[in-house]
Amino acid sequence: MDLAGASAIITGGGSGIGRASALAFAAAGATVLVADIVEADGNETAQLIEKDGGTAAFTRVDVTEPDDLARMLDEAERTFGGVDVLHNNAGIVCGEPLWPDTDPATLMRQVTINLASVVVGARLAVPYLRRRGGGAIVNTASMASVLPLTDEPAYSATKAGVLMFTRTCAGMEVRTESA
Ligand SMILES: NC(=O)c1ccc[n+]([C@@H]2O[C@H](COP(=O)([O-])OP(=O)(O)OC[C@H]3O[C@@H](n4cnc5c(N)ncnc54)[C@H](O)[C@@H]3O)[C@@H](O)[C@H]2O)c1
Repeated sequence: MDLAGASAIITGGGSGIGRASALAFAAAGATVLVADIVEADGNETAQLIEKDGGTAAFTRVDVTEPDDLARMLDEAERTFGGVDVLHNNAGIVCGEPLWPDTDPATLMRQVTINLASVVVGARLAVPYLRRRGGGAIVNTASMASVLPLTDEPAYSATKAGVLMFTRTCAGMEVRTESA
């Protein structure tokens, strides 16, 4: 896919892999909407891109909120003329205390961030990609999707879910004409 002039959204773009992805998309000529729950980090990624001569904006998003995901897609379309790429990248580990003593609320949040937001984000992106005649959805999984991470079994489960969701979608033909 030629990324020159493309419009990309990166969730969890404020740090780590998401920031690296945002910088790489920008270096390839895409405009980038950096989406993250941590405002300072997301803004910093957007500033790094602009400093390198790229075009970027930041939007604060909690990927567990479908309304935030919808607003994020609208914002990319309004600011950059459309959506060609959605990189569903935001993800967390629960950390200490490790399984089976993990806080139940943290586990619920992990499942929602790591898996539900990927499924819902992809679903919400479809009409945006259709309006551009196609595009790409990239989901960050992990080696933990195929190798059990015994300290964080829910992490492995969510990443296995991301892997199977991605494989399944990749095998489906998505019609680009309006339904
Ligand atoms: N670091 C690794 O070794 C590794 C290996 C394989 C896969 N991964 C996956 O790569 C992805 C990025 O991981 P990373 O290591 O760069 O982590 P990171 O913690 O550096 O980055 C994650 C980003 O997601 C953001 N985020 C967290 N919750 C969010 C929410 N609810 N809404 C919006 N943004 C949110 C954080 O603020 C952060 O900027 C994750 O999906 C992770 O599971 C990481």
